[in-house]
Amino acid sequence: MSLCVKNNVYWVGKIDWEIRKFHGDEYSTHRGSTYNPYLIKEEKVALIDTVWASFSKEFITNLVKEIDLKKIDYVIANHAEIDHSGALPELMQYIPDTPIYCTKNAVNSLKGHYHQDWNFNVVKTGDRLSLGPKELIFIEAPMLHWPDSMFCYLTEDNILFSNDGFGQHYASEYMFNDLVDQSELFSECIKYYANILTPFSPMVIKKIKEVLGFNLPLDFICTSHGVIWRDNPGKIVEQYLEWAGNYQENQITIIYDTMWNGTRVMAENIAKGIQNSDSEVNLKLFNLSKTDKNDVITEVFKSKAILVGSPTINRGILVSVAGILEMIKGLKFKNKKANAFGCYGWSGESVKIINALLKGSGFDVVGEGLRVMWNPDSESMAKCFEYGRQFSLNVSV
Ligand code: FEO
Repeated sequence: MSLCVKNNVYWVGKIDWEIRKFHGDEYSTHRGSTYNPYLIKEEKVALIDTVWASFSKEFITNLVKEIDLKKIDYVIANHAEIDHSGALPELMQYIPDTPIYCTKNAVNSLKGHYHQDWNFNVVKTGDRLSLGPKELIFIEAPMLHWPDSMFCYLTEDNILFSNDGFGQHYASEYMFNDLVDQSELFSECIKYYANILTPFSPMVIKKIKEVLGFNLPLDFICTSHGVIWRDNPGKIVEQYLEWAGNYQENQITIIYDTMWNGTRVMAENIAKGIQNSDSEVNLKLFNLSKTDKNDVITEVFKSKAILVGSPTINRGILVSVAGILEMIKGLKFKNKKANAFGCYGWSGESVKIINALLKGSGFDVVGEGLRVMWNPDSESMAKCFEYGRQFSLNVSV
């Protein structure tokens, strides 16, 4: 299946309706995903990226319906990760000498993945490749989100091929941004940014400003996952600048896990205290053992402050809490406040441990946290309420 994007540019990808876990178990894809290679059939023919290795044969079968593979003059590898380069070994069996244009880092990554010495042509930002009347301009985008990442831009048609940038894991039969459910699209975009791009936010701002500085007209952004941006593509660029700028909403998120409900009762009474102090604040509360971790991370991304709760077990914390804190550490959130709470029976280390981890992850930890021995009684519940109220007041100033 192919789809005309504009003039001689075709989407030749794969809609993966079934996938529910990406990057192993690291990313939940509730709405599936797509892998978006593009075929440009000008005087010269260029193929930009491929698909995940699992779909190699299907990709080649569909591609030969579009073009005699031997007529592909150039392969462009914008990114070496397997979901975009995975069909290269299959493809290159048919066209082993066809040049592959990519960054220097991509040569290393592709050789590392596939152990093949293909006809690599290293490109840098500003290099151009003529397709006849139109040209591809290459723009290196290191660490957005791999060292090898690259964008390219097609002149005359004014299309930016942004690879993972501006993408979403979102399967839809409508491949254009103006045709899909806008609420679904937004929620997949912010989840993608929060879970994948947050640590690279300073580079996102720098790269967008650099690209905008080229003053290239922009009619389409062709991403490698999800929809093609054709209706006001500048809007997602502006949205990225906002998200990259230490984004936060007036939201406090409570995340916890519990063994015998003590920490859950604490969480719910803390929530009541927060609501009592500020009826405007958007309060979210999640039990980590029952909630998708990537959805939790998206809520943390949106929050100005978080509260993290775990009972003490074996002088430590519950594994679901440790897991989300490990993810939070890697994502390098900025400009957020936090604190810990939890119940205990005897040793009671959990609150100290959580606060140390939050501090080490760059959060502004406000206060010592709140511990309750055994199950909360009415006096402890009142303490939780007051703790929530005070926390809300502290993070509002
Ligand atoms: Fe969609 Fe970084 O791969």
